[in-house]
Amino acid sequence: MYSEKVMDHFTNPRNVGEIADPDGVGTVGNPVCGDLMTVYIKVKDKKLEDVKFKTFGCGAAIATSSMITELAKGRTIEEAQEITRGDVAESLGGLPPLKMHCSNLAADALHAAIKDYLKKKEAKE
Ligand code: FES
Repeated sequence: MYSEKVMDHFTNPRNVGEIADPDGVGTVGNPVCGDLMTVYIKVKDKKLEDVKFKTFGCGAAIATSSMITELAKGRTIEEAQEITRGDVAESLGGLPPLKMHCSNLAADALHAAIKDYLKKKEAKE
């Protein structure tokens, strides 16, 4: 039911953990299942130098979090903002229809972390 890529990211998730002293943090919850995801970002020269995540959720939520860290790392803020929920699912070779909502968490948490970063940056200026 899951693609090989989903299984790979689920069993061997990339970039798990917290970033000490992050530039932005975004936490989102899925009201349907109660799962929670937090994304941490470190920004250097307007690029996402590091992206990490912590997810309390299903296998698909873990796989999509892992994938979004790979998609976002090294991108500019603008490019990362354009990563959509669909991009995440597509990069994983698709998700079962019932699990599509799980991929929303990853994109939403990344966007929330970027929003947090931009808000903090604005406050400093
Ligand atoms: Fe909750 Fe997948 S079942 S995020």
